[in-house]
Amino acid sequence: MFKNLSVNRRRFLYISLSGLAGATAIIVGKDKLIMSHSQAVDNRNRDFRVAGLAPLKKRAAAKGLIYGAASMQDFLLSDKNLETNFVRECGILVPENELKWDALRPSPDKFDFAKSDWLAQFAQRNGMLFRGHTLVWHQQLPQWFKEVVNPQNAEKFLVEHITTVTKRYAGQIRAWDVVNEAIEPNDELPGGWRRSPWLEHLGPNYIELAYQVAAGVDSKAMLVYNENDLEYDIPHQEAKRTLVLKLLERLKSKGTPIHALGIQSHLRGGETRFNANKFRKFLNDVASLGLKILVTELDVGDRNLPADLARRDRIVAACYEDYLSTVLDERAVIEVLTWGLTDKYTWYSQFLPRSDGKPVRPLLLDSNLKRKLAWNAIAKAFDRAPKR
Ligand code: XIL
Repeated sequence: MFKNLSVNRRRFLYISLSGLAGATAIIVGKDKLIMSHSQAVDNRNRDFRVAGLAPLKKRAAAKGLIYGAASMQDFLLSDKNLETNFVRECGILVPENELKWDALRPSPDKFDFAKSDWLAQFAQRNGMLFRGHTLVWHQQLPQWFKEVVNPQNAEKFLVEHITTVTKRYAGQIRAWDVVNEAIEPNDELPGGWRRSPWLEHLGPNYIELAYQVAAGVDSKAMLVYNENDLEYDIPHQEAKRTLVLKLLERLKSKGTPIHALGIQSHLRGGETRFNANKFRKFLNDVASLGLKILVTELDVGDRNLPADLARRDRIVAACYEDYLSTVLDERAVIEVLTWGLTDKYTWYSQFLPRSDGKPVRPLLLDSNLKRKLAWNAIAKAFDRAPKR
């Protein structure tokens, strides 16, 4: 997966900036504290039984929800077992990397749609919806980007990229993550903007522009603002929630064609600083703007959880169920997407590996594609969710 050193370095930077590695939960010296957190959240008597074996997409659909997952093309192409399970469980497919700039843009004047077209056809052939991730992001830009894009031509590149890509998939895409991760209070810029090449070249208006261009080409797609680090009751994420809400308010008041907030939801197993009331209030504030809400990249990091499989899986499952039952209580939430389906293929194997070297288990199927407790937890949350 790693093509070269600089991509590697960029990815490392992503982890350190994203707040995941910066979180208390990952500081080695606090391991003792973390263990006591996970002990506190582990309840061996918790009942994860569910009625029947119906797949997640059916349970979701019964409540007017859509469930799906992200995958890379390589995995679906080479693993029949993954394909079978994906088609069984998922109502929507998200290309994990194939619609990002570094995948689509081999050079400044070329587009390569081979992999994303394959995934679009895979979704269509299997009766799944297809999702667009992502048009504007500070990560996974191609090598040439830094040398070629400057304040004079950045707008031309942005408009051309969005126009070409949305045109190609117009009518096939249910929703586009038009802008991803534009807010980062840790970057300490006025307005809370993330220090991104788009901001540096175009100023904060690049956001509005991106939505206008996407809507001009594909008037049917749901246009989403996608953001990370919004879930926990810690000062950095509280600040982010406030800034995101302000951004959404501003966009709505200007009549920008934006339809939903995507909450990535990369959760941390054992993290107790989740305040359901505060988070519920945030969801309500977003919904009050007339926006839908999507859980776009749900998974549960198990980096700091005990090695013991039964305990680890229980804590991860509890985290899925507790989070989803809070979130699904808000009827503006209409989609739940996990960032992968099976522990066999998860970005955490590289991005958040365990220090004991044991394989990570952040998803709902194990590495043999068997349903885990986390699958039950999600099924239970869907079964109990109010109908949309
Ligand atoms: C991740 C992919 O899962 C990895 O394969 C890739 O190397 C890096 O990006 N937030 C996002 C996603 O919006 O695009 C990221 O996906 C995970 C964090």
